[in-house]
Amino acid sequence: MFQGKSIVLGISGGIAVYKAVELLRLFTKAGADVHIIMTKNACEFVTPLTFQTLSGNPVHTDLFNLSQEQEIDHISLADRADLFVLAPATANLVGKIAQGLADDLLTTSIMATKAPVLVVPAMNSNMYENPVYQRNQKQLVEFGYHVMEPASGSLACGWEGKGKLPDPVEIFAVAESVFTPKDLLGCHVLVTAGPTREAIDPVRYVSNYSSGKMGFAIAAAAQQRGAQVLLIAGPTDLTVPVGVRCIPVFSANEMHAAVFGHLENIDVVVKAAAVADYKPVDSMPQKMKKTTDELTLHLEKTPDILAELGKQKEGRVLVGFAAETERLLAHAAEKLQKKNLDLIVANDITQEGAGFDVDTNIVRFLHANGRVEELEKMSKAEVAQQLLNQVALLWKLKQP
Ligand code: PMT
Repeated sequence: MFQGKSIVLGISGGIAVYKAVELLRLFTKAGADVHIIMTKNACEFVTPLTFQTLSGNPVHTDLFNLSQEQEIDHISLADRADLFVLAPATANLVGKIAQGLADDLLTTSIMATKAPVLVVPAMNSNMYENPVYQRNQKQLVEFGYHVMEPASGSLACGWEGKGKLPDPVEIFAVAESVFTPKDLLGCHVLVTAGPTREAIDPVRYVSNYSSGKMGFAIAAAAQQRGAQVLLIAGPTDLTVPVGVRCIPVFSANEMHAAVFGHLENIDVVVKAAAVADYKPVDSMPQKMKKTTDELTLHLEKTPDILAELGKQKEGRVLVGFAAETERLLAHAAEKLQKKNLDLIVANDITQEGAGFDVDTNIVRFLHANGRVEELEKMSKAEVAQQLLNQVALLWKLKQP
C-alpha cells in the first residue's frame, strides 16, 4: 500500500520520540519514501542522524535552512506528501495546529499540505485530560485531521493513565487505514480464518496447517476500507487487527454456530478458514491409553458451513477459498458452483510461497460468470487488497 508513496513523519519533542524510530522502520519496510521533520525539542531526545540513517533522506529541522535545500522546504515537503503522520504529537504541537500557528518547519508544512494528516498525541495524562488540550484536539477532528487515541499505562513521568504513544504497529495500521479508500463503508463483512480442531480426546485433535494469516489479512484490509468486520477465527497465534471484532472458536461445529448466530445484517462472507471436513464420531472425555498396537478412528463429516450459506444466500456476496494439490481450476470451479458462490480464491498449495502458514500466496480468482484472474506471487496483505477490489464491486452491484 505504501510502496513508492511519500510519507512525511513529523516528530515533536517528548520521551516517546524513540518509538518514532520503529514507526519509520515499518514505513520504510512497506516501501514508503519517508521524509522526517523534527522540531528542535525532538532533536533533544533522539539525534536526527538516527532518522537520517534509517530513512535514507536528510532530516529537516529548520525553516530557514538555505544550505540544505534548493527548494522552499515547507512547501516542497507539504506538496510531496501522500500522507503526513505526526508521532509523537505534543500538546504544544496540537495546540498550534488547532489555532493556525505556523512558526517552524513542522507547523508551516502541516499548514501547507493537502495530504491527509494523522495526529498521534503523547503526553502526561493530566495534560491530555486538560480541557484546553481536549478542545484543541476536538478542533483538529472537526478540521478533518485524523487523531488517534493515546494508549493507557505507566507514563515516563511516573504517572499512570492515558497519554502513552500507542505501539508503532498500531500507528502503522491506523496510517494504512487513513490512506485507504473507503469503498466498503457501510458494508458488514464476516471473515473466517485459521484451522478448526476436532477433538479426539482432551489432549489430541484432528486439524490442518492453517495459520490464519490469509483470513486475518482480509479482515484487516476490509476494516481499513471502511467495512465493519467480524472475524470468526479458529486457534491461531495472531493478533486481532485494530478495529476488528473477533470471535474465537475451536471446532467446525463452533464455527458453524458462530457464523449462523451472527449472520443478520452481514453483506459479505469471506470463508478463508480451513475447516476440518471430518471429526471423530466420539470425542473421548478422558485421555486415551496406549492399549492396542493399532487404532482406528471413526470420523464423520462436519457441517459444510459455506455450502449451507450458499443455500440461504439472501443477496449476500459469498467468497470461498480452495486449497488444492491437483487439478486446481477444476476443483475450485466445482466448489464455486456447488456452494453457490460469487467468487472462489484458488490456491495451488504445491507451489512454494502459496497456501498454508506462509506470508505470501499465489492465487487465482474464479468468478461465477466463468472469468478467471491469475495473480502473481504476492504478500497475503496484497492478495487481501486485490480480493477486496473484487468484493467491493460485487457488493455495489448487489445493492438496490
Ligand atoms: O491460514 P493460512 O496459513 O494463511 O492459509 C490460508 C489457507 C490456505 C488456509 C486459505 O488460503 C485457504 O485456501 N482456505 C481454504 C482451505 C480449504 O481447503 O478449503 P476447502 O477446499 O476444504 O473448502 C472450500 C471452502 O469451503 C472454504 O472456503 C472453506 O472455508 C469452506 N468450508 C469447508 C469445509 C466445511 N466443513 N465448511 C466450510 O465452510
